[in-house]
Amino acid sequence: MNKLEQLYEGKAKKVFKTEEPDYYLVEYKDDATAFNGEKKGSILDKGVVNNKMSALLFQMLEEKGIPTHFEKLISDREQYVKAVKILPLEVIVRNIAAGSLAKRLGLEEGVVMKETVLEFCYKDDALGDPMINDYHIYAMEFATKEQVEAIKVMSLKINELLLAFFLEHGLKLVDFKLEFGLFKGQVILADEISPDTCRLWDAETNKKMDKDRFRRDLGDVEQTYQEVLSRIQG
Ligand code: C5P
Repeated sequence: MNKLEQLYEGKAKKVFKTEEPDYYLVEYKDDATAFNGEKKGSILDKGVVNNKMSALLFQMLEEKGIPTHFEKLISDREQYVKAVKILPLEVIVRNIAAGSLAKRLGLEEGVVMKETVLEFCYKDDALGDPMINDYHIYAMEFATKEQVEAIKVMSLKINELLLAFFLEHGLKLVDFKLEFGLFKGQVILADEISPDTCRLWDAETNKKMDKDRFRRDLGDVEQTYQEVLSRIQG
């Protein structure tokens, strides 16, 4: 499969057509943004880490029964994926209070939630990805009830699998964001799972091992991304 014309360029990735209509090529960039694009920068080799980490995690999830868009890693920064139509939803899964949830509910960062929290946001940069609920999703026809049900079941299962996987590699999964897409009528996991889209804390020290190092200018950003990849590969 060859890389044909670019279909889309987002904040962290470019998507290209291939000769095969059912597959796209995704190229991961080093560009980093935070606070809905207000803060911009670059993290050296972030694209390599996120491409390899997403490939590894999507393969693991696929083996455990989660349908994903991942097909094949083809270079340090590129992978083939199924040509999904992305649903305009961001699904946030939270195990420990942090970020916008801690702020919104006045919780101390680090409070372990009694139950997993699932949130939906409407994927729209101009609106700042506002939080929505199931009623908004059906009223706006962002997804059907069956699709939302499938997304909830898969998100909770993915959380279980990722919590165990990261803990085996010395990392606590605080929260993360998922995106889903439609492929031949089926809802499947799409986008990426990486230190850009997860909060990961060192299991012993609670050191932040994710994009919060960039967001909050905590230093050692590049080294931390590399460390996360080498832990999960180890
Ligand atoms: O900022 P907030 O606390 O709502 O983020 C929750 C989780 O979702 C974090 O792991 C963050 O990295 C991720 N997220 C994301 N993309 C967004 C919003 C949040 O990957 N647009």
